[in-house]
Amino acid sequence: MSVDRVRIGVVGSGNIAGAHSAAYRLVAGTYADVPRHIDLIAAADVDADRASDLARSWGWQRSSTDWREVTRADDIDVVDICVPNVFHAEIACDALAHGKHVICEKPIANTWEGARDMAAAAAKARRVAQVCFYYRVWPAISWARQLIDLGELGAVRNFRGWMLQDYAANPNHDLGWRARLAESGAGALGDLGSHIIDIARYLCGDITGVYATTRELVERHNPTPGVDDLATMVVDFDGGAGGVLEASWALRGHKCDLGFDLVCERGAIRFAWERSNEVGVLTGDVSDPDNGYKTVLIGGGQPDVGQFVAVPAQGMGYRDAFTIGVSKALRAIARGETSAEPSFEDGLQVALVVDAAMRSAQATAWQPVRKAAEVLAGG
Ligand SMILES: NC(=O)c1ccc[n+]([C@@H]2O[C@H](COP(=O)([O-])OP(=O)(O)OC[C@H]3O[C@@H](n4cnc5c(N)ncnc54)[C@H](O)[C@@H]3O)[C@@H](O)[C@H]2O)c1
Repeated sequence: MSVDRVRIGVVGSGNIAGAHSAAYRLVAGTYADVPRHIDLIAAADVDADRASDLARSWGWQRSSTDWREVTRADDIDVVDICVPNVFHAEIACDALAHGKHVICEKPIANTWEGARDMAAAAAKARRVAQVCFYYRVWPAISWARQLIDLGELGAVRNFRGWMLQDYAANPNHDLGWRARLAESGAGALGDLGSHIIDIARYLCGDITGVYATTRELVERHNPTPGVDDLATMVVDFDGGAGGVLEASWALRGHKCDLGFDLVCERGAIRFAWERSNEVGVLTGDVSDPDNGYKTVLIGGGQPDVGQFVAVPAQGMGYRDAFTIGVSKALRAIARGETSAEPSFEDGLQVALVVDAAMRSAQATAWQPVRKAAEVLAGG
């Protein structure tokens, strides 16, 4: 029997909780196959004003300063975690232990051990447990995956990917908890690098090894040693392809520059978020001197776009990615399924790459990346 009503509680009422709230407000009208009734029950935050402001702005029915009033509430089905990384594991594991489904912001945790505990708890609880790597659900990117799966481009040969921003190039910018390693787990490598690592493995398969360098680029007023501003990784993929990944929050001129240049045996795909409604596709004969990329404006040919706009180039935006993302979790819940992608196991696999990259940068040596399934099996 399909579930018609889902009751949500959000923990953390800061920046990203607004995008989540908007997605819950829009999702039932956008997709016919998610529960018809999405009830916004409770917003929690250690800062009472933030919780009540979020509740007032988006119509959450009550607010609280204690996350346990969300994870243990009888009238909540889904716990949505929007707090700093260090708190994800404890809150997610408590929610799963109390029978809740969990939607958790990325990176899944501040340590790979926390990520492992979360993935193990999700498997035991048999509840939907999704990590919000929502760039991968963006229609241009999910379409790239479809093109690869169709096989017409042939095997992936090389992946160059990046997630670059510049807001922290300003030494006066307060990075808050992101600059405190104990709360974040890593600097730009974990915060922004986790997105491009997720996309790399979504498109090319698992990363099996990494050589990384990290750099601190900005002299801050409250320097926090070990928090990288720039990470560069050379990676190997399972299928034999290679690649280079970059992550930074302090490279001037890059605003929300998440992109990739994916070259396959018989073609290629290019994407850059700063032109997020376009995707470049190369097919055809390599011996043709006029052979080159065509630019596709995302529209009816790409997944999900038809739910948002009627014709190509009307334009989708950042928050739409969150509506697509939560629709996947809510659809799975409606159908009584116990998993939705990106899963906690995906989150663990990304955490293992981040951990290997940090060890590589420290040791100036290549590091193999363990497989999430083996880690969960106790290996
Ligand atoms: N998917 C994305 O693209 C994306 C974008 C931004 C942030 N994020 C992730 O979302 C999470 C939150 O980031 P943010 O930018 O919203 O941070 P933020 O600092 O704006 O908000 C975090 C909120 O959590 C509250 N908080 C801290 N500890 C708490 C606790 N123990 N219990 C309850 N509330 C607590 C803080 O008071 C704050 O209001 C992080 O994991 C971050 O990496 C993801």
